[in-house]
Formats: sequence, C-alpha cells, structure tokens
Amino acid sequence: MNILITGGAGFIGSNFIYYIFEKYPDYHVICVDALTYAGNLATLEKVRKSKRFKFYKEDISNRKGIYKIFEETRPNIVVNFAAESHVDRSIEDPDVFLQTNVIGTEVLLDACKKYGNIRYHQVSTDEVYGDLPLDRPDLLFTEQSNVKASSPYSASKAGADLLVQAYCRTYGLPSTISRCSNNYGPYQFPEKLIPLTILKALNNEKIPVYGDGKNIRDWLYVDDHCKAIDKIIHHGKIGEVYNIGGNNEKENIEIVRLICKELNKPESLITFVEDRKGHDKRYAIDASKMSSELKWIPEMSFEKGIKSTVSWYLNHIDWCNTVLNK
Ligand SMILES: NC(=O)c1ccc[n+]([C@@H]2O[C@H](COP(=O)([O-])OP(=O)(O)OC[C@H]3O[C@@H](n4cnc5c(N)ncnc54)[C@H](O)[C@@H]3O)[C@@H](O)[C@H]2O)c1
Repeated sequence: MNILITGGAGFIGSNFIYYIFEKYPDYHVICVDALTYAGNLATLEKVRKSKRFKFYKEDISNRKGIYKIFEETRPNIVVNFAAESHVDRSIEDPDVFLQTNVIGTEVLLDACKKYGNIRYHQVSTDEVYGDLPLDRPDLLFTEQSNVKASSPYSASKAGADLLVQAYCRTYGLPSTISRCSNNYGPYQFPEKLIPLTILKALNNEKIPVYGDGKNIRDWLYVDDHCKAIDKIIHHGKIGEVYNIGGNNEKENIEIVRLICKELNKPESLITFVEDRKGHDKRYAIDASKMSSELKWIPEMSFEKGIKSTVSWYLNHIDWCNTVLNK
C-alpha cells in the first residue's frame, strides 16, 4: 500500500507518519511538503533513512510537480494535512492561505481523479463551523452544523471542504473529510498556544494571552487524532464528514496557568494583550458519529497528555531552536 501524506513535515502530519510507520510495517509512505516556515525535515529525522519512506519537497498547488509525484509513486491513499494553519497569519496575509488551502486541495483532487483508484482524505478543522457562545455550554458542533467560518484561515479550509464534497458528488471521487478540534503534543511549531507558552515560560518571558483569556477550545492529544484518521481512511464511509474532538473544553487562560504550574513559573509572566480580530469564542465538538460508527474515542487524558507534552518540549529544546531558526 502506498500512502501519500502531504504536510508531513509539520505538526500533525509528522505524528501521523510516525503512527502509520509503526502500525503498518508493509506501507510505503510518500511525504510531500513545501517546507514552509512550519515544516522542517528535522521533524522527520526518525524515518528519513528508511526504505519505506520517500520525501518530495513540493508545493501542493504546483500542478505539474504534483502530477509528476503521483505518476512516480502511484499512491493508493492520499491524506492532505498540508495547509497554512495559523489564524493570526491569515489575518495579516490571506493570499497564501487561499493558494495552499484551496488551490492546493483542488490540485490534489485533480491528481486523484487523473490517476484513479485513490482514496482521498481531507484533514479539516472544527473552525469551519465558526464559533459557539460562551453562555450556552449545551451547544456542540455536529456534522450537520452550518459551515460559517470566521477567519480567512477557516474560510479557506471551508472552501477546501466544499471542493472535496463537490469532487465526490460530481466525479465520484472516493473521499472523506474530518473536522478536528485543537491538537497538542510533540512537534507543534512554537507559535501555537501550548508550545509558545512552554517556551516563553522556560525563558522567563512575558506570556501573551488574547483578551481576557476566557475563549474556550476543545483539546485533543495528537495521537488520538492520528488514530481517528486511521479509522476513517480504512473504515469510514465515502462522502462522509466526521467530527473529531477531545471532549475536553478549557479556557485559554486555564491552559496557560496549568503550564506555568507544571514548570514552576510565576503567573506574573502572563500578559493580557489586545484581542485577536474576530476571535472565536468557543469551539466544542460532538464526536458521537466517530464513536458509534467507527468505535473511536480519545484515549489520552488531558492531565497525562499535557504533562507528557511539557516534558517532550523540555527534552527537545534543540528541535525548537532548529525550527525557530530556520
Ligand atoms: N493544529 C491543530 O490544532 C489542527 C486542528 C484541526 C485541524 N488541523 C488541520 O490539520 C492540518 C495540519 O495542521 P498542523 O497543525 O500540523 O499544521 P502545521 O502548520 O504544523 O503544518 C503544515 C505543514 O504543511 C506544509 N505546507 C504548507 N503549505 C504547503 C504547500 N503549499 N505545499 C506543501 N506543503 C505545505 C508546511 O511546510 C508544514 O509542514 C491542517 O490542514 C490544519 O488545518 C489542525
């Protein structure tokens, strides 16, 4: 089986490559990544020399390059993680988000159509549903919730989802989509809340928190996300959307305080900064379809997962310096 994974030099993609490598010893993994600021080959050090692994530095929106890779590697499964993924950057400069997240997805879908017999999976986000009010804890996003993006990032991911659904309906392309909540774990680029907080705290620097820190996110350990995608690509129903969540809602400020405590750092490092434009209030996922249809539930508790993540960063300061100094 040849599985082509885009964005594999980034956070979730690399964790997925390691997961597939271990679980399926007969699979060949082809990683396609443009190595933007967020992608680094140092992240894939443990598989790079394997005969079962092939790396292509390529932009998913480069049609010629992508067709050539498909021609050479003939994948059976394509999992698209490649994306511009940071909301703040999308507010500053949406162009590259549309180019990679929308046009890149279109090129991959066309490649699957051209070369045929390829199962395609789109890794999407709960952010395509917009947000939920803070005072309605009873509300959750289901797969039937309206797509109602708030940021250029989530709008570009929503556009990609619609394209995947259109290719499935119009051309019969065998595809699935997953929409996951916030991930945490090893190899996350230190611009996102958890690794950023860990590094700032370690360096005794001010830890920036947007607004009053009361925005709520649902957190899932990255390995649990990988297990969910594994279930979907092997047993999920063609044409379906699957919500993936940790059932673990936390205010941003709670996360930051927890990390300070874990590292024995004073909360006086926390600095409230002007809120992000259009900042989503709350994300919360109903993942009951994943559990009833595919027998998936998150396995890692947040208490254990956050401790192991903090300790991973403490033990991988060299990796942090490598990716930050690129
Ligand atoms: N991080 C989360 O909490 C989260 C939650 C839900 C969904 N997602 C989705 O999961 C996917 C992976 O997210 P992540 O956090 O690992 O992102 P990331 O930013 O860590 O990694 C993205 C990877 O894609 C590569 N890339 C970017 N543009 C590319 C292009 N044009 N061509 C080829 N490669 C390109 C980068 O080099 C990088 O290796 C994204 O699609 C994101 O929308 C992320």
